[in-house]
Parts: sequence; structure tokens; C-alpha cells
Amino acid sequence: MDKNEKITLEVIQNKIHAGQRISMLALYDYPFAALAQQAGIDSIIVGDSAAMVNYGYDSTLQADMDMMIRHTQAVKRGAPNVFLIGDMPFMSYQPTIETAIRNAGRFIAEGHADAVKLEGGTTVLDTVHALVKATIPVVGHLGLTPQSAAITGKFKAQGRQAQSAVDLVNQARQLEQAGICMLILECVPNTVSEAIVQKLSIPVISIGSGPACHGQVLVLFDILGIYPRFTPKFVRKYAQLAPTITQAIQAYIRDIAQGTYPAQEHTYAMKPGEEEEFRKMIE
Ligand code: KIV
Repeated sequence: MDKNEKITLEVIQNKIHAGQRISMLALYDYPFAALAQQAGIDSIIVGDSAAMVNYGYDSTLQADMDMMIRHTQAVKRGAPNVFLIGDMPFMSYQPTIETAIRNAGRFIAEGHADAVKLEGGTTVLDTVHALVKATIPVVGHLGLTPQSAAITGKFKAQGRQAQSAVDLVNQARQLEQAGICMLILECVPNTVSEAIVQKLSIPVISIGSGPACHGQVLVLFDILGIYPRFTPKFVRKYAQLAPTITQAIQAYIRDIAQGTYPAQEHTYAMKPGEEEEFRKMIE
């Protein structure tokens, strides 16, 4: 696919109908966004995982609207052609529908996102409906939902029992009826993802939810081996950059200590004849 083509929801749907899989990354800044677009990624989500991965907090609850908008703007500048999703942070959509519309609108108007994502099923149906009515494309998020998991402590795979699996399928259908344009499933058994893919007609993207989904999303810093705290079971690391980065910084520190950096080629000379003049002037 042409990297200069803007990836819209229609392009994503067409890819799926042509039997292709959708690639998505969660990332938060300009340089990585530019590299991801250059590499040919279909979609980027500016996840509230930024609070943990970029800011070092223990949960995603500390992400706020201003933080998320700034990151969304930076990512948009780096990757203007991907399908860009802004992740609505904790308490940006829960208090009232009006709050949700105002904050979702900021992602579109100020962040130039193509869609917003929010977590939850039955409890957010009215909100989803209102956002869609306000012409804001919404991505749903079911399964392990980190914002509520940070409160309930349920950081584990969801839908592993028949009844909870059926609940997930029902919530996915309700979200689709409420108008979501895409669904992210986090830490759900592949059997359940497969059923949801069969019953829905929108793109279903997995994060730790198996190959039956139309596409996959992972956090960029996880696949690059940069995030130092923990790696979820479902992550495949495509690089181990942490030691490489540490070694580069150590080499820099060593060169400064030894006086081998900066070398001649890293310095500026005065214009011809000016040096002598300068020395005379400061005598
Ligand atoms: O914040 C995040 O990284 C997410 C993932 C589901 C992509 O929401």
C-alpha cells in the first residue's frame, strides 16, 4: 500500500474484506510516529498507557486530557496518514455524557484524531450513542480494561468461563448497535474473539486476544524492549533496545570523561582572520 495514502476506516474495511490483517501500535510521540508510518503501520492509538510507559506512573489512571491531547498532536505531526485513535483517559467520559462529548471533541478538533476509544460495555452504551450522534467515531474496548482493573485489581484475562464469555459477546454486540466503528479486545481467549468477529461486522483488533481478530495492537515500547518494568505474556519483543541504548549512553559518558568527545568535526571555527582579532580584543 502507498505510504502517502491516508488510511481511513474505509481503507481498513477494504483491507479486511481483501483478507489482509490490520497492524496497530500504541505510541505517544513524534519521532516514533514518523518511524511507524515510514514502516507502513495502518493505525496508531495514542493510549493512556502513556501514563505508565512515558511518565512512569503505576497505572493508566494518571493520564489526563491535556497530556493526551499534546501526545495526539505530536503523533499526528509524525504520522499524518495513519488511522489515528485518541484514547479517552480516566474520568474524561465517565462523569456525564456532556463531559464525554466535550473531551472526545477535543481529540478530534485539537488532536486531529480520526476516532476516540473508550473502555467498557453496558455502562458506556449511552455515551457511545451520544458521541456517535455528535459525529465522533468511537472505538470500543472490552476484556481487560485497565482503567477499571486499576480499581478492581482485575488485571487478568477475561471471558475464560462460558458465562463471562457470553457476556462479552453480548456487550460487543450492544456496542456495535450503539455505533462503535471498531472494537479492541484485550486479553480475551481466542475462541471468544472468534465468536465476536463472526457476530460483528466492524473491525475487531486484538491485544492479547489471539489471531482470530482482524488485526493486532501492541505497545511500541514493549515490542522494542524498552519498557523496563514488566512485559505482558502476549507481547512478542521484536528488538531488545534497552541494552543498546544503555551502552550508547555509557559510551557518551566515557567519551566526555576521556575528552574524546567532542572531536574536531563537532566544533565550530571562527571566520578567517577573526580569531587573531578576537584574541587581541580580549587581551
Ligand atoms: O493504552 C493503551 O495502550 C491501550 C491499548 C489497548 C492499545 O488502550
